[in-house]
Formats: sequence, structure tokens, C-alpha cells
Amino acid sequence: MKYTYDHFKKSADYLLERCGGPPEIGIILGSGLGHFGERVEDPVVIPYGDIPNFLTSTAIGHAGKMIFGSVAGRRVVCMSGRFHYYEGYDFEELSIPVRVLKLLGIRALILTNAAGAVNTAYRAGDVMVISDHIKLMGGSPMRGPNVEEFGPRFFDMTRAYTPELRRIALECAEESTLTVHEGVYYFSPGPQYETPAEIRAIRALGGDAVGMSTVTEALTASHCGLPLLALSVMTNMAAGVLEKPLTAQEVIDTAAAIEEPFTKYVTHIISRI
Ligand code: HPA
Repeated sequence: MKYTYDHFKKSADYLLERCGGPPEIGIILGSGLGHFGERVEDPVVIPYGDIPNFLTSTAIGHAGKMIFGSVAGRRVVCMSGRFHYYEGYDFEELSIPVRVLKLLGIRALILTNAAGAVNTAYRAGDVMVISDHIKLMGGSPMRGPNVEEFGPRFFDMTRAYTPELRRIALECAEESTLTVHEGVYYFSPGPQYETPAEIRAIRALGGDAVGMSTVTEALTASHCGLPLLALSVMTNMAAGVLEKPLTAQEVIDTAAAIEEPFTKYVTHIISRI
């Protein structure tokens, strides 16, 4: 499928007619962090299935709706339910959500995700502000004909994770009960968790955390010049760090355990943007 600007505009126009006013900040909620959407005041909820040209969510724990409203006095749109490469979408399709959010007029994007801690100084339940990423497997959401309205064919990634937003996130960390690090996210396509040997390789390459999302969205945001903050919740120590197998239940349980302080932390950040 080759997308044109009009493909994304159709989705955005549908939403703008119904959302009760354009949002300032977009938030894509990661696994187990979906309850943040319940904190949105005066919500207008639009299921993904109603949005023309949009994708539908298949992942467990991902609800599949856009929630418009306000948080900390800011107009926001939350995507409760995100799309992953492991679900079978190709990289090009994964450009859709962020491009639609861009056309809604947001001036900053916040991504949250669950990730495995590769850095052994981190602990399950810690948070990492993403400073940069590593994606060594082929493919890009920007592959194919360039949609010039969004950005240039070749684009910079040195400021993909906006330094000013990272600074705000680190300042807000001082008032949080959470332990917040800053580090590099390694994209792993999944759905299998990594092998212990892969984790040793990722560590040697400079990855601090590993996860199956976020990077396609970060690439799309960079291409269209959207300021970005990405936060990883360390739901588990990565494969082989501890003497035990990884389970999706552990990921869900840790995310649930820190949901309250994490929600408070993200709300504080939103109030400062
Ligand atoms: N690896 C990849 N993705 C993940 C992990 C992990 O250990 N934990 C949560 N998402």
C-alpha cells in the first residue's frame, strides 16, 4: 500500500469534527498503562474501528480507542491501544497513528512503553527516559514514496528524542517516588522475548532497555518534526539477567504495580509542557 497525504488527512478530519477541540499533546499508552485514559477529564472516546483509514488493535491489554479531553489543564488525545510490528503490520502501516496525531495539530507527543531492563543497574519498576534508540533490523515506516507534506526523504535522527522534553521529564523525576534513568532503547521485533545471548549482545551495543514498540513511532515523529518524549517502564529484568524465564504476566503485574506513581509522573510532565 502506498499512502498519500489524503489517506492520513481523512482520518484526522473525521476526528477533528468529533473530538470537541484540537488537542495540544498526544500520548500513546503502552502495555498495562492503558488506565491513564481513565484520568482524562471530559472525555470524548472514539473507537479505532470508527476512524476511516485507521488500524485496529489486536494486542492483549490494548483497548483500541482515542480518548480526547484534558489532563493537567492541557488538551490531550490519548491512544489507548497501540500497534506493533509483531501483530503483522508492516513498517509503512505503522506510520499511520503518529501521522494522524500530527494532523490533529499536537505540538508534542509522549510515548510510553513496557520494556525489559538490559542495564543491570536498573530494577524492575524503574522508569527510563529514552535518549536514543537502536534499531538494527531492516525496514522503516518511511520506506516507499516520500510523503513530502510530512517531511523530507532523508531526515535527521540526532534530536529525535527532544532534549528539552527529556530535561522536563528528568526535572519532574525529582518530585516522583519513581527511580528514573535516562538511556538507550533497543528495538526488538518480538513477539518472542529475547534470548540471553541477544541481551548480552544488546548490552555490548549500548542498549539499556529492550522493547517491541516505540521506535516506528519515534521515526515517524522525527520525519514530521514532532517534538517527542518517550518513557519506558522497566517491567522486568531482560532475559538471562535473573535465573528465571520471562512471562507476559510479570510484565503486566509490574506495570500495574507502578501505574499510580507513573500516572502522577506523566501528569506532572504534561503540566510542564
Ligand atoms: N523484551 C522485549 N519487550 C519487552 C520486555 C522484554 O524483556 N519486557 C516488556 N516488553
